[in-house]
Amino acid sequence: MLLLSDKLLQMKNLQNKRVLLGVTGSIAAYKSAELIRRLREQGAEVRVVMTQAAMEFITPLTLQTLSGSPVRSDLLDSQDESTMGHIELARWADVVLVAPASADTLARLAQGRSNDLLSALCLVADVPLLLAPAMNRSMWAHAATQANVSLLQQRGAQLLGPVSGEQACGELGEGRFMEPTDLLTYLSHQFASGSLGGQRVIVTAGPTREAIDPVRYVCNRSSGKMGFAVARAAAEAGARVVLVSGPVTLDQPDRVECIRVESAEQMKNAVLERVSECDIFISAAAVADYRPVQKAVDKIKKTAEQMTIQLERTVDILASVSQMANSPFTVGFVAETRSLHDYARGKLVSKQLDMVAANDVSAGQGFEQDDNALEVIWADGQLSLPLCNKDKLARRLVEIIAEQYNAKGAVEDSGSTLRH
Ligand SMILES: Cc1cc2nc3c(=O)[nH]c(=O)nc-3n(C[C@H](O)[C@H](O)[C@H](O)COP(=O)(O)O)c2cc1C
Repeated sequence: MLLLSDKLLQMKNLQNKRVLLGVTGSIAAYKSAELIRRLREQGAEVRVVMTQAAMEFITPLTLQTLSGSPVRSDLLDSQDESTMGHIELARWADVVLVAPASADTLARLAQGRSNDLLSALCLVADVPLLLAPAMNRSMWAHAATQANVSLLQQRGAQLLGPVSGEQACGELGEGRFMEPTDLLTYLSHQFASGSLGGQRVIVTAGPTREAIDPVRYVCNRSSGKMGFAVARAAAEAGARVVLVSGPVTLDQPDRVECIRVESAEQMKNAVLERVSECDIFISAAAVADYRPVQKAVDKIKKTAEQMTIQLERTVDILASVSQMANSPFTVGFVAETRSLHDYARGKLVSKQLDMVAANDVSAGQGFEQDDNALEVIWADGQLSLPLCNKDKLARRLVEIIAEQYNAKGAVEDSGSTLRH
């Protein structure tokens, strides 16, 4: 029986994870249907590869319906392989789980064969390989099977089961398929580092454009790279991420819902529409502070020697979120050319933020670059993250956000316990 804490752990860790499930020709193949359902309940994405023998035990149609993706079984499929589908599939996965794993599949994997799609994938995939054997107790106990399993373990494969008990053939012994719920618990521990597992995060990124006329606008030098890296890192940490991005030339990150906007007003609307559903708000966008009071309907002609464009303040999206009644954990990015710490701490207090990530942009650092450094500041602490590439920096920042977010949750929980 699963403890409640195990269930909560699973909910967090499997969110967004990509499980490539290999199903082989064992009588336990029918249990893969339940396994897929439970994985998807926990937020994992599942793609299924079946051996030819597996399809004698359970239909691809069943597993396709439950996984929500076409099932693949053929390595030499001219259509799927027109884009080297088996390599793509192997690169897609966060983990390969072969469940059930037959004695024959274990033998092929131990030998490093690649004569079918599943074994080829296991050679290509550079991710953890988890094997859940299921077979008659004598097949399992046989020296050949044991030698294969120990070779696979030496190479890093992890064994899930088999367990002892009554077998499909009526015999009693070791060789039974591990129950899907137990497989799920094991798998969730595999992803236990998902520090934001199950949390909902909104990230803003890029600049905003404030129109002067139909062809001209006020903008800034933000490339969106830092915000996109933060969105990617939060998704990697298990969060469900919505990225609200101003105009940038970056591709939508994997596993992230992306909303493209242009102006500060549109960004504000997109954020406010979704913010009540989010736990953490990370404002990495360089939102225009001012916009032209009027947008000319037609292109402004080059007639006057001088012209003045009157600007008005835009709404402060970050402050609007942090000052909401049930505000999420709010992180603001600031870019300064001097007195970085003073301005950053000032913003933390005046805008009631939980954390500030401050960028020194005086030395050409930050904007449009692939590398960056950050000073991360919160109420009772701060950390300097030295210059490194934005992906690495974003992962480190997300770790700190997760720590502080969880610490704040723990304090609030203990407060509510005391009050009761
Ligand atoms: C009714 C039946 C049940 C079987 N159950 C198992 C089993 O539980 N485990 C196993 O390793 N092989 C089992 N086999 C044998 C495999 O199906 C056979 O070795 C097959 O070649 C495995 O192919 P695969 O590893 O490519 O899926 C069973 C065969 C039959 C006919």
